[in-house]
Amino acid sequence: MTEKELIKKIIEVKKIKRAIILAHYYQVPEIQDIADFVGDSLQLSQQAAATDAEVIVFAGVHFMAETAKILSPQKKVLLPDLKAGCSLADSAPADKFGAFVTEHPGYKVISYINCSAEVKALSDVIVTSSNAMKIVQSFPADQKLIFAPDKNLGAYINGQTGRDMLLWEGACEVHETISTERIIQLRMQNPDAKLIAHPECKAPVLILADFVGSTAAMLEYTRKSEFKKFIVATETGIIHQMQKLSPEKEFIVVPADETCSCNDCPYMKLNTLEKLYLCMVHEKPEISLSAQLIEKARIPIIRMLELSKNL
Ligand code: 13P
Ligand code: SF4
Repeated sequence: MTEKELIKKIIEVKKIKRAIILAHYYQVPEIQDIADFVGDSLQLSQQAAATDAEVIVFAGVHFMAETAKILSPQKKVLLPDLKAGCSLADSAPADKFGAFVTEHPGYKVISYINCSAEVKALSDVIVTSSNAMKIVQSFPADQKLIFAPDKNLGAYINGQTGRDMLLWEGACEVHETISTERIIQLRMQNPDAKLIAHPECKAPVLILADFVGSTAAMLEYTRKSEFKKFIVATETGIIHQMQKLSPEKEFIVVPADETCSCNDCPYMKLNTLEKLYLCMVHEKPEISLSAQLIEKARIPIIRMLELSKNL
């Protein structure tokens, strides 16, 4: 089957099943182009909570599809490849994290959405990279806070707000590989470019950046900016939307070394058009969670959605 025929089939089956396709900015371009909605983690969870479709096809990674299931438990949630996990979510196993929380009575627990449903159930509130700063600041200054699992995002927020949150030692394997040395070289070769970075990057990258923000915020920044060239420190998938919204601008990915594609997320890139089609036809792999877990994990996610209303 050609790609054109496959796309036609996906559109047909989507209609028959009353399905919606939600895709993250890190998906391959052909999936982004066929999706009903492309967004960052927060926008995707808002869409999952609001949709009236019967089936949600999540072109993203496991924790995102789980979040959709928690927000719309009566709907069927499909993930094209069940192996599409997340190194950051994996860096906080629920049993170890639960023990850590128990060791710190009196602390409120703020968890980045990149974590398992079990870790969400242990949290007071969930955040994404687009609302984390605001939600952290909504706690009284003297409230002791745990931030998990991303130590880079946590340290960045501590630095920006003067807070002293206790950080879980987790990180994203993709953003951790983004090279500061390569960025410095690229800046010297492109003095007219702005450096934009996702807050999952390491501190030296964030210090160098002209703008730090979520995938949606970076996209908006490049769209509105008068500058014509950007060095982009995040996963490569986002370039597709940046280029689409600003065809006249130039985007340079880091590391821009042709021998290395290590800032392609290996989990995000497991999803393909073919798997997307097959998962709709067979209605699997399907996300299933116990009612008890959904009930517990839902509370901090709903709290996040409430706190994000005016963002
Ligand atoms: P955002 O979509 O919130 O920018 O986060 C990126 C990410 O790590 C998704 O895995
Ligand atoms: Fe997880 Fe990093 Fe991939 Fe995002 S880019 S899904 S944080 S491994």
